[in-house]
Amino acid sequence: MKRRIQCIDCHDSGYLIDRTSEFCVASACACKAHCPLCDGRGFLYEKQDGYEVVRECQCRIRPRQLQLFNEARIPARCDGTFDDFKARSQKMELAKITAIATAHEYRREHPSRGFVISGPVGTGKTHLLCATIHWLTLEAGFSARYVEISFLYSEIRNGFSRGQSVLDALQPLISPDVLAIDELGRGRCSEFELETIDELIARRYNTRKTTIFATNYLLTKKASAGGYRDPAQAQASHCLIDRIGERSWSRLNEMCHLIELPQETSDYRLNKARF
Ligand SMILES: Nc1ncnc2c1ncn2[C@@H]1O[C@H](COP(=O)(O)OP(=O)(O)OP(=O)(O)O)[C@@H](O)[C@H]1O
Ligand SMILES: [Mg+2]
Ligand SMILES: [Zn+2]
Ligand SMILES: [Zn+2]
Repeated sequence: MKRRIQCIDCHDSGYLIDRTSEFCVASACACKAHCPLCDGRGFLYEKQDGYEVVRECQCRIRPRQLQLFNEARIPARCDGTFDDFKARSQKMELAKITAIATAHEYRREHPSRGFVISGPVGTGKTHLLCATIHWLTLEAGFSARYVEISFLYSEIRNGFSRGQSVLDALQPLISPDVLAIDELGRGRCSEFELETIDELIARRYNTRKTTIFATNYLLTKKASAGGYRDPAQAQASHCLIDRIGERSWSRLNEMCHLIELPQETSDYRLNKARF
C-alpha cells in the first residue's frame, strides 16, 4: 500500500528546491524543523552487538547535504531526477541504469567508474548528469560539481584579466568526489581549449576521481587516423576523439563506461512542445 504523503510542500523529502536563480538552491522544509526521530536532540541510541551506541541522527546530517547540493551548481533548468527519466529504448535504459549505479554504488574509498553519454539534442543527457549529482549530494552526502564546458572556457578567460591562471580556475573542479562535465567536445577545438580539457581530465584521472560526461559527439567513428592537429579540421569532425584529442580520449576510455544513444533518438523538448 502507498504511504500517504504528510507534507504537500516537499512530498516528505524534507527539502525544497528553488529554481528562480542561475543554479538550484535547496533548503530544509519547515515540516522537518522539529525532528520526530530524535526529538530535536540530534542523536539516537541504537543497539549494536548487545550494546547501546549513540548515532548521529539524519537531521544533523541534512544541513551538510543541502550545502553540498548547493555547492554543486546544478543549473536551475535541470530539475530531472532518476524517477522521472523515461527510458524509451534499450540504450536509454542502459544509460539510466549506469547513472543510477554510479550514484548508488559510489564509495569514496573505492570510487566507481564514471560514464560518458553521447547522443543527439534533447535526449536527456544533462537530465541524467544532474540526477546523478542530485542523488550523490542530497541523498548520499558526497561532494560534487556540474560544469558546462563552454562556461568553463569563458570563466577561465575572464579569470585571466584578474591574474588567475588556468590551474586556479580548475582547482574547484579537481577536488569534488564526483564531477559532471557537460557538452564535452563543444567549442572551437583551439589549443587553449584542448590544453584545458587535457589538464582537467588528466587531473581527475591521476587522482582516480569519478567523472561523468555528456556529449553530442560520436563515440564510435574516428574521422582522422592520427588525430587532428589543426583546430579547423577538428572542429569540422563529429567524432569526440577528434575534438578532444587522443590523450583525453584514452583516459576517458579507462575512466568511464561509454554509452552512445542512437542518432534516431527523438528530441524530448520537441515532443513536449508538440503535445
Ligand atoms: N528520457 C527522458 N525522460 C524524461 N525527461 C526527459 C527525457 N529526456 C529529456 N527529458 C527532458 O527534456 C529536456 C531536455 O533534456 P536534456 O537537457 O537532458 O537533453 P540533452 O540530451 O542534454 O540535450 P542537449 O544535447 O541539447 O544538451 C529536459 O527538461 C529533460 O528533463
Ligand atoms: Mg544537455
Ligand atoms: Zn515538508
Ligand atoms: Zn533527528
